[in-house]
Amino acid sequence: MFITLEGPEGSGKTTAVNTACKKLEEMGYQIVRTREPGGTPIAEQIRNVILDKENTAMDPRTEALLYAASRRQHLVEKVWPAIKEGKIVICDRYLDSSLAYQGGARNLGVDNILNINLFATENTYPDLTLLFDIEPEVGLARIAANSSREVNRLDLEKLDFHHKVRDTFLSLAKRYPDRFVIIDASKSQEEVAQATLKAILDRLCK
Ligand code: TYD
Repeated sequence: MFITLEGPEGSGKTTAVNTACKKLEEMGYQIVRTREPGGTPIAEQIRNVILDKENTAMDPRTEALLYAASRRQHLVEKVWPAIKEGKIVICDRYLDSSLAYQGGARNLGVDNILNINLFATENTYPDLTLLFDIEPEVGLARIAANSSREVNRLDLEKLDFHHKVRDTFLSLAKRYPDRFVIIDASKSQEEVAQATLKAILDRLCK
């Protein structure tokens, strides 16, 4: 089982899933938590290049290719082996982030980005994608209020960019209704965590 977590900045997906994972582990499920870009030493090195605030000259296609490269390395070293061992892999961000950020917000085209990613992932789609949906204004205000979360190069984009990210995520949920579940991330932490757990259990029991 391969589960991915998606959403605009400051959607609180990590906190919600931490709570849900604790419950799932108590129930006896074996879970591997990981994140993109990164998740393995090589992929983390690529992450540092992508998110470095000094790299203002980075070309959008270079950015898209680096995300895809990091994704590939992470699949090979971490995700595929864990799935083979029968574990549930829960990954913070994956393919749909590239479709929303690089395809939608950077205007490279969702289908162009899908194509390079199908090559990178050998057509590995998640079984379940939780979309933590939130208005960009609310999400960005949460990040500004949370001093422990480091601001990265993509956070610094204009509001219009973040609106495009959100709109593309919502259009992806319509395009792939079988694997997407939308979670209203504007609700309280407890409600979001509960909705997260329910969506995962529904999929596991399917
Ligand atoms: P991170 O600090 O992990 O952000 P978050 O906590 O919001 O997940 O930074 C990842 C950033 O990279 C985030 O701004 C989203 C962006 N991103 C893309 O633009 N394309 C991608 O394919 C992925 C995986 C992430």
